[in-house]
Amino acid sequence: MKERLEALKQEALLELSSVQSQQELSDLRIKYLGKKGPLTEILRGMGALSADERPIIGQVANDVRAAIENVIEEKQAAYQKEETEKRLRAEMIDVTLPGRPSQQGVVHPLSKVIQEIEDIFTGMGYTVAEGPEIEQDYYNFEALNLPKDHPARDMQDSFYITEEILMRTQTSPVQVRTMEKRKGEVPIKIICPGKVFRRDDDDATHSHMFTQIEGLVIDRNVRMSDLKGTLLQFVQEMYGKQTRIRLRPSFFPFTEPSVEVDVSCAMCGGEGCRTCKQTGWLEILGAGMVHPRVLEMGGYDPKEYTGFAFGMGVERIAMLKYGIDDIRHFYTNDLRFLKQFLHL
Ligand code: PHE
Repeated sequence: MKERLEALKQEALLELSSVQSQQELSDLRIKYLGKKGPLTEILRGMGALSADERPIIGQVANDVRAAIENVIEEKQAAYQKEETEKRLRAEMIDVTLPGRPSQQGVVHPLSKVIQEIEDIFTGMGYTVAEGPEIEQDYYNFEALNLPKDHPARDMQDSFYITEEILMRTQTSPVQVRTMEKRKGEVPIKIICPGKVFRRDDDDATHSHMFTQIEGLVIDRNVRMSDLKGTLLQFVQEMYGKQTRIRLRPSFFPFTEPSVEVDVSCAMCGGEGCRTCKQTGWLEILGAGMVHPRVLEMGGYDPKEYTGFAFGMGVERIAMLKYGIDDIRHFYTNDLRFLKQFLHL
């Protein structure tokens, strides 16, 4: 029996020494140590042994079992270690790899220019006022001295929602609303940025929706020279110290006198080029002294107060500043266009 046990041990150890996989190992464990294995069978036969032999054989059987178990444990541990290492290797993170740069958004060029214009005017003591884009006819036209059948309404072909409600065609209604709110108090010194809507066919220089910034100043003794000085200061901060302005007589129903304001062409410095159509000047603003009737309707006595107002298209200002040749670029969100403003 002792010899059978020894032989069993040798056989098991030999087989274990060439084991190739974890599966094989577990098969061998069942084969040699399982309930139906040879060791169990031998132990079961121990009943036939004499009382003297039993403990000796029992001891040998235990040793054999322990020897086989030991080798199996060892191999099992080795497999486990290998597996852990494999997993660690697979999951390893190389902290020295350079990261993937995240895509950075940019401020839209229009927002940027609005911000710039606001900065310039707030620097001169103006505050920013806003109002609704869907507006009452009264604020958009009537209170600006444009009664219902006034021919000048044709200058701003409008999107009407009902007879009395429309998409605002200018940000001037914010000025009327501000006058109403201030109830005759002075000074008023505001700029009103915002979207405006007109029934224009879209092309390189027209859009049915665009952005305006208008300004309004009301106080005692406000003069045309104040308007001129303010606008000169503005364009010089916007386009550079060398920039000059030129006022030409014009007409707006809400200002009297009215002017159109040109700046010396930033592209050629006034020499004449394609952008300014060889004139050296670019029209960028409408302006004038607030019409007495507008003051009156806004609750300001025109005998005591005067004011000036001006309005500009932000897209046009931006196009001239950055040499953009098509207004539609602002609205189509082409990243190739937008990314050019990354570092401005
Ligand atoms: N609201 C005028 C326009 O859209 C611009 C303007 C504003 C002109 C204020 C004069 C004074 O054409």
